Amino acid sequence: MRVGAVLTAAGSGRRFGAEVPKALVPLAGRSLVVHAALTLERTAAVQHLVVTAPPDHLRAIESAVATACAIPVTVVPGGPTRQASVAAGLAALHGCEVILVHDAARPLASVTLMQRLIDQVQQGHEAVVPGVPVTDTIKEVDDARPPRALRTVERSGLRAIQTPQAFRSATLRRAHAAGAELAGEEATAVSDDAGLAERCGTTVRVIEGEPRAMKITTPHDLALAELFATEER
Ligand code: CTP
Ligand code: MG
Repeated sequence: MRVGAVLTAAGSGRRFGAEVPKALVPLAGRSLVVHAALTLERTAAVQHLVVTAPPDHLRAIESAVATACAIPVTVVPGGPTRQASVAAGLAALHGCEVILVHDAARPLASVTLMQRLIDQVQQGHEAVVPGVPVTDTIKEVDDARPPRALRTVERSGLRAIQTPQAFRSATLRRAHAAGAELAGEEATAVSDDAGLAERCGTTVRVIEGEPRAMKITTPHDLALAELFATEER
């Protein structure tokens, strides 16, 4: 089965607060988007890569990724939300039966993780995501002032879900088509692709994720990622 990937890098990184988009922030000598693109390239099955970029930084993302990668890379302008950006990426990805969707904000996810996800789809699962156990106590809290705890959620059944996420192409495209009306604003858009598949009734398989696939949101996360980057893969 042909495998392609959509790598999202079109966010501004508002919470990170750098002068450049978060995907261009350096980690251990390479930008976040280049780390993620190189790992996708090293995943033997992946044959084509589409990267979403902020419209005003398209060239910068394109030259960073094209310089580092040997596989064919298409860079497209992202949309107003992650969901819209993935949809734009899918429109530029052709001829693949399996699609990985990954975030430049998770630059250290391993080749092994990508391969395990692809294997599951090749074995017949329609949608597969990595999850890690939640260690904090999670409470539902109301919006009153001051906020008040409503209840404590049973933690054993919770997982924090990461990217990459792997899908049969038809399943992912159907899910995006069905949820397209949500994509225009952060208030309605879904935060991951599996969420769209769930809305269509697709069974989403959860496999074990990895600590190094952590998401970089703030400069503090980047410091933690620097530690992971010094460890062997
Ligand atoms: N993303 C995207 N298009 C958008 C918004 C986000 O492609 N319109 C991508 C980001 O580049 C990132 C991933 O989706 O790789 C996860 O988003 P997040 O971590 O929220 O990054 P940002 O949106 O850039 O950060 P912030 O929300 O702090 O602005
Ligand atoms: Mg965001």
